[in-house]
Amino acid sequence: MIAIYPGSFDPITLGHLDLIQRGSRLFNKVIVAVLRNPNKMPLFSVQQRIEQIRLSTAHLPNVEVDSFDGLTVNYAQMQQAQVLIRGLRAVSDFEVELQMAHTNKTLSTQIETVFLATSNEYSFLSSSVVKEIARFGGSIDHLVPPHVALDIYQCYAHQQTVSNPIKTETTQNLRNLPMETPMETFPEWEV
Ligand code: PNS
Repeated sequence: MIAIYPGSFDPITLGHLDLIQRGSRLFNKVIVAVLRNPNKMPLFSVQQRIEQIRLSTAHLPNVEVDSFDGLTVNYAQMQQAQVLIRGLRAVSDFEVELQMAHTNKTLSTQIETVFLATSNEYSFLSSSVVKEIARFGGSIDHLVPPHVALDIYQCYAHQQTVSNPIKTETTQNLRNLPMETPMETFPEWEV
């Protein structure tokens, strides 16, 4: 049975990795699918996130990494998957996730959503929490794989050291942002 684990993964955390590892023991193949979402302003480009996930899951032979746009169920059908994996951390997740599972069921009766309870030690963890801690100089070494921590530290270190940024191509490259990202989106960068 093939399972899709869809998400933003901006960036992948140890909580995500825990779910991928456990999912890989339950299904023949798990495809971690990064949503290409034009409405979100990510810290990392889709390609960077794919690389981060590939490195994090290199030890799992039945895990693949891909990106997709549009509806998750369409992507799942295209991959001939039967299952969507989603993690549940708390009751607050349940409400949102149940609505998403019901919505997906109306779009395709062939795809089942399987919820995995997040391991206790990661029940508080999200990509947003990681970014917030790093942004204010805290340690995230216990929350993300080491190479991801490095990527994040680099992003925010550049943000702090470049105190008077000129809105140039070079400056945007420093932050590892997609080139199309308008600088106006980052008020803290305004001089
Ligand atoms: O990591 P996230 O941001 O919680 O993942 C959310 C995701 C990508 C699984 C969800 O937004 C999604 O499936 N988007 C694709 C569009 C879609 O299929 N919408 C219908 C279900 S609500």
